[in-house]
Amino acid sequence: MPPRPEPAPTQNIPGVRHLIAVGSGKGGVGKTTVAVNLAVAMAELGRMVGLLDADVYGPNVPLMMGKREMPQVHEQNRIEPLSQYGVRFMSMGLLNPGDKPTIWRGPMLHSAMQQFLRNVIWGDLDDLILDLPPGTGDIALSLAQSVPLSGAIVVTTPSDVSLEDGRKALNMFQQLKIRVLGVVENMSTFQCPHCHHDIDIFSHGGGEATAEKFGVPFLGALPLLPAVRVGGDSGHPVAVEGEASEPAKPYFDLARRVIEAVDAAATADDILRVRA
Ligand SMILES: Nc1ncnc2c1ncn2[C@@H]1O[C@H](COP(=O)(O)OP(=O)(O)O)[C@@H](O)[C@H]1O
Ligand SMILES: [Mg+2]
Ligand SMILES: [Zn+2]
Repeated sequence: MPPRPEPAPTQNIPGVRHLIAVGSGKGGVGKTTVAVNLAVAMAELGRMVGLLDADVYGPNVPLMMGKREMPQVHEQNRIEPLSQYGVRFMSMGLLNPGDKPTIWRGPMLHSAMQQFLRNVIWGDLDDLILDLPPGTGDIALSLAQSVPLSGAIVVTTPSDVSLEDGRKALNMFQQLKIRVLGVVENMSTFQCPHCHHDIDIFSHGGGEATAEKFGVPFLGALPLLPAVRVGGDSGHPVAVEGEASEPAKPYFDLARRVIEAVDAAATADDILRVRA
């Protein structure tokens, strides 16, 4: 067998300080919901934020961001991202709107991701958030090998099926030597609006226990809330309402933890670089 080519060294995106991947083992656990609300909350907290929808097969970012226009393409295929709620974003759902599926194999996914990273006019950003597809497949690998990710956030619900796949995602990031910024437990406790009792629809506590087991931070629990689902479906994510709004609050707490984590990681990397 011919020797396997060394992976190409990762290359920065000029102007972008931190690249933050939001991943999970399983679909439907709330990656896009977390990515969108996190992006809006971080922007609200004063960061320059971009959001790249890396889920080519199920691109839900335009729906949740409430904007779907064909992006402008300038000379040399430079693509203008859309801007909404203080966040610049790009998605395959803008280039291939409607219900037509994108049916692609690995190499095409790889080149689409390269175009989204390199040809989109992101400008100066503190943080570019990547909303990954579920699982441990081509796209995550392709991204990890082409750009220097500052870190990854793993989203899981507290159910055992979600946690089982979440552990695979954690193992993938650790094997790829990508810093795990932490685990988020989404669809955590639901509070009955009538009697205000807490109901653990998908169980409770598994996210934190998993973070502990892997020796990574726990970034918090996000409650299961009808307003969050409505916000996503209506293109008006809860974070847009600002920190004072009850449903938005946990996303602002998350945003602060993520900002702290990526800034600390960048400082640590700088110190290592100076020492080397
Ligand atoms: N905390 C939450 N409370 C209520 N609904 C949620 C919550 N998180 C996600 N959802 C809903 O669950 C569905 C799946 O979420 P989504 O973000 O698309 O997951 P993924 O990107 O992991 O596939 C969406 O309809 C979304 O609105
Ligand atoms: Mg998604
Ligand atoms: Zn009740």
